[in-house]
Amino acid sequence: MEIVIVPDAAAGGELIASAMAELVTRKPDALLGVATGSTPLPIYQALAAKVRGGALDVSRARVCQLDEYVGLPTGHPESYRSVVLREVIEPLGLTEASFFGPDGAAEDVAAEAIAYDHALAAAGGVDLQLLGIGTDGHIGFNEPCSSLASRTRIKTLTQQTRVDNARFFDSLDEVPHHVITQGIGTILEARHLVLLATGEAKADAVAATVEGPLSALVPASALQLHPHATVVVDEAAASGLKLADYFRATYAAKPAWQSI
Ligand code: GLP
Repeated sequence: MEIVIVPDAAAGGELIASAMAELVTRKPDALLGVATGSTPLPIYQALAAKVRGGALDVSRARVCQLDEYVGLPTGHPESYRSVVLREVIEPLGLTEASFFGPDGAAEDVAAEAIAYDHALAAAGGVDLQLLGIGTDGHIGFNEPCSSLASRTRIKTLTQQTRVDNARFFDSLDEVPHHVITQGIGTILEARHLVLLATGEAKADAVAATVEGPLSALVPASALQLHPHATVVVDEAAASGLKLADYFRATYAAKPAWQSI
């Protein structure tokens, strides 16, 4: 795993947006896996700025979802489909035709999850998957003790995750209990995994992910199994890392021509 410690969230967003821009320039129809939550917003803002400024053409890029709530009505503003349309697709000037994800309002949610897993493979696989991290170490909505080989499926949220996400809803009661999430095995099939974590609240989860043992109790630790995983953290999220100085020195010594 490559660990990059950046001064703040904006610098992390810029770094990751630059890597995505480099990918799309090399492979214009790249499939970009996007994450929701507050953390990746600086990435989307930096990417949109590059597009607006004419430095980047994303018109052929494709975008896919990491996870989705189950049971919210179609078009609900906090469904992850709506969030991605609002925060990624529209600012990048893309259309809905270039975007796909699982339907959390499907009649047969289990079948929908399996179909989404197949759709990702049929699309040629994800080129770069963005990830955030939950305070309990989850990626996507793979809560602690998810199988490290899991495929896209329905999951039940922990109370901690529902509380963490309640800020997007009028009340805790409105936060769904169930979700469809790419499985950890599914996520590991992406060609490049890029996890961004910012703020002190993520410091323990980051330390367990990067320096702890591979454990289903910390789903993000599965990144240790991936040949090309990049973890970008700000100083606050890096505060629990024992090897922080080593990670800084390693990144500083990286050749200028090498992207993350
Ligand atoms: C949700 C999403 C995750 C995200 C996490 C953290 O649980 N399913 O993909 O990483 O929230 O969100 P935030 O970045 O807002 O802390």
